[in-house]
Amino acid sequence: MIIAVDGPTASGKGTLARALAAHYGLPCLDTGLLYRAVGAHCAALGGDPDREEEALRGSTFPEALLDDPALRTEAAGALASRVSRHPAVRQALLDRQRAFAAQPGGAILDGRDIGTVIVPHADAKLFVTGSLEARAGRRHAEMVARGVDVTLAAITADLAERDARDAGRAAAPLVRAEDAVLLDTSNLGIDAAVREAIALVDAQLERHTIL
Ligand code: C5P
Repeated sequence: MIIAVDGPTASGKGTLARALAAHYGLPCLDTGLLYRAVGAHCAALGGDPDREEEALRGSTFPEALLDDPALRTEAAGALASRVSRHPAVRQALLDRQRAFAAQPGGAILDGRDIGTVIVPHADAKLFVTGSLEARAGRRHAEMVARGVDVTLAAITADLAERDARDAGRAAAPLVRAEDAVLLDTSNLGIDAAVREAIALVDAQLERHTIL
């Protein structure tokens, strides 16, 4: 069973993907982390994330980099969003993501193009979204709790910029797959969002077994 979870930054898709993984007993891949590693490695090599060839060099990142907490920062997210625009970078990460999805028993992957490009044949697809205000408010609260000194206005501007870049790029833009079910988390707490996500996935799986 393969479950695709896509959506914009800070929509809660990562949290939901992990909760679904625990619920269905499936392994989970945060594909954003791969792009973050490419961006960080590109920068470590002194490359320009806006130049395709230099960004591509970042895709040879060492595996240990995936455990680096620095990848979770906003700065790493912004770099990821810049390297991820390049088709060569997306291609370099394709096999790894498809192999993860194809493992026996299935998997959950979360990202931007899982249901559209990586595994269009997924058994269930969620497109998790939320208003810019709700997403920025959530991200701001998380960062303040971690002791980061940042304003809500700065976070809102950063998310809006990343949304525009992710949705506006030519290669695998952030779009909802036609057969993905929308889950708007703007007014949902974590527990309610998880319950809703499980119900939506169950409904899709049931429909598959009936058809
Ligand atoms: O999900 P996360 O915020 O970690 O993703 C970081 C960036 O990586 C996104 O803004 C997006 O540009 C890129 N990304 C992507 N395709 C994916 C996952 C992430 O382009 N499947």
